[in-house]
Amino acid sequence: MSVSVGQYTAIDDTADASWFIRFSDSVNAIPEYRGVRATLIEQLGSLEGKHVLDVGCGPGDDTRELARLAGPSGRVVGVDLSESMLAEARRRGGPVEFRRDDVYALSFPDATFDRVRAKLVRQHLLDIDRADDELVRVLRPGGRLAVFDLDLETLALDHPDRTATRAFQQYWADHHKQGWCGRQMRRRFAARGMTDVTTTPYTVHMPYEFFRQATRGALADPEAATVLGMTPEEWWRPLAEAEEAGLFFASLTGWVLGATR
Ligand SMILES: C[S@@+](CC[C@H](N)C(=O)[O-])C[C@H]1O[C@@H](n2cnc3c(N)ncnc32)[C@H](O)[C@@H]1O
Repeated sequence: MSVSVGQYTAIDDTADASWFIRFSDSVNAIPEYRGVRATLIEQLGSLEGKHVLDVGCGPGDDTRELARLAGPSGRVVGVDLSESMLAEARRRGGPVEFRRDDVYALSFPDATFDRVRAKLVRQHLLDIDRADDELVRVLRPGGRLAVFDLDLETLALDHPDRTATRAFQQYWADHHKQGWCGRQMRRRFAARGMTDVTTTPYTVHMPYEFFRQATRGALADPEAATVLGMTPEEWWRPLAEAEEAGLFFASLTGWVLGATR
């Protein structure tokens, strides 16, 4: 059984943790993510000398960037549930404390951090309310939160079968634990008393191979053929031809949320 994005919450229990590291690296290599990272940093406000938490840090490249900006007087902590991710983050180095922690029950007292960041984590979480409570709890009053998550039902895919494409868009979004978390961010954090809440949209292109990897879990589900009204092979054929011709197109929209506690 091949691994897929649906298992991001249990990477260490899968047959191939390295797939998730490669997948995260391929996300971050998509050019639009440069803008996402820059806006997250902008929304956090000044970082120099600050105590910063990166939740669900993955391989930690973004966390290292935060540490560079926090400077020698700052302190940056990257937490993740996966030991495999943390091992890779530590191997890549940097002045960051990488430690195992669970966003559902962070092991820090209330109001520990000046800045809290979470990128591409919440869309994978079953109990998003509990996670959001924790992100706010560990932030000090007046501190800044920055979050980025996609909204899976914003998929724009140029496939010749419109009916199948529309069905796939909803099916794929619902295959995620929080397929709508992008559009719900503003409401969720406002409900937790956060102020100055802003959302900045980013539409990111999905290269063909990336799209294949991102959707393979949903398409491996036997229900997929019924939803699409065709076999996965029939679904892929025109997309592969489009890629051959240099015409494959798929994109997703997400939002960077910035807010003050
Ligand atoms: C899609 S990756 C994003 C990694 C990184 N933030 C980035 O943008 O490159 C999601 C990360 O969240 C972590 N994660 C999943 N569930 C978690 C939990 N309950 N607590 C902490 N981290 C979790 C995964 O192990 C994974 O490293």
